Amino acid sequence: MGGYIISNRKVAVIGAGFVGSSIAYALTIRKLAREIVLIDIDKEKTEGEALDIQHGIPELGDAVVRAGGYEDCADCDLIIITAGRNRKPGESRLDLITGNSQILKNVVEQIQKYYTRGAIMLVSNPVDVLVYQCTRWMGLPDGRVFGTGCELDSSRMVRLIADYTNRDTEAVKISIVGEHGDAQIPIWSRASIDGMPIQEYCETQGLPWTKEQREVLTEQVRGMGAAIIKNKGRTHYGIATCACYLAGAVLDQRPAIASVSTVLRGEYGVSDVGLSVPSILGVNGVEKRLEEEWAQEELTLFRQAADKMKGVLKTL
Ligand SMILES: NC(=O)c1ccc[n+]([C@@H]2O[C@H](COP(=O)([O-])OP(=O)(O)OC[C@H]3O[C@@H](n4cnc5c(N)ncnc54)[C@H](O)[C@@H]3O)[C@@H](O)[C@H]2O)c1
Repeated sequence: MGGYIISNRKVAVIGAGFVGSSIAYALTIRKLAREIVLIDIDKEKTEGEALDIQHGIPELGDAVVRAGGYEDCADCDLIIITAGRNRKPGESRLDLITGNSQILKNVVEQIQKYYTRGAIMLVSNPVDVLVYQCTRWMGLPDGRVFGTGCELDSSRMVRLIADYTNRDTEAVKISIVGEHGDAQIPIWSRASIDGMPIQEYCETQGLPWTKEQREVLTEQVRGMGAAIIKNKGRTHYGIATCACYLAGAVLDQRPAIASVSTVLRGEYGVSDVGLSVPSILGVNGVEKRLEEEWAQEELTLFRQAADKMKGVLKTL
């Protein structure tokens, strides 16, 4: 997990579809990067997206946003991979494995020709499987490749709890860990509102905080991506803002704790599988995976998620 100091805030976004271009847009208006290069097999569309972002926001951004090629991966501080097919209504993220794994292989072969340094953030789905493959193929130090993983799920849960407790989202702390998919686990035992255990907070407010209540929230978050896809065919704004938050930790040298996906090395008794756990994210990607105290039931569910994902990896 070693180090170097960041210098030029150059970001390559591979895949200029809905997710990739929304990330580039979010990075631009947050002024997180000096140079953002969009790379996609569809060159004309990529040119259009880059021009649209660059020309649409002269007052709000100062980055150079342009369409480029894989040679632009040289000297990037961060490479964000979003290339790949999205889910159709009714599909699970795991249904995307074969196609998106092929695309990732192709993308990694191209990146390897030019890669000099920088963290690699995976967004394409199924993100935990692709993190595992990209980590293996790139052969970089531990943590340099990471996936957005359950950070989006955690963010969705924060939103729901904030609404339920009538508090602002900043007061709510909760991590969802495991698979960015059906085997995701909210760590209720550590959830808090303004530092107070959530159970205690709800009691003081006269709000029910039962197992049933928690299950309703868990199911809502688990099905949130599918529900949005049913309504509008895709999700991209939520993931773009999450990816932008994570990019900030890398580009701004502003370490953040986030539930992102890396290949585990014995944490929580699990190794050799890509899953999300709360991690310190900084200039080198994931600098440390945190080993928190979880309730026994949460630990059991996490290990079951690991077994499920190992089963999936065996089919590749
Ligand atoms: N991790 C998350 O939380 C999350 C959330 C939303 C979407 N996603 C995933 O992000 C991915 C992209 O979704 P989208 O809505 O932007 O899809 P999209 O179809 O709009 O864009 C995908 C882009 O990838 C490009 N592409 C395909 N093969 C390529 C290759 N070999 N090299 C470079 N580019 C290539 C396509 O030309 C296209 O522009 C999907 O896998 C989707 O499931 C992940």
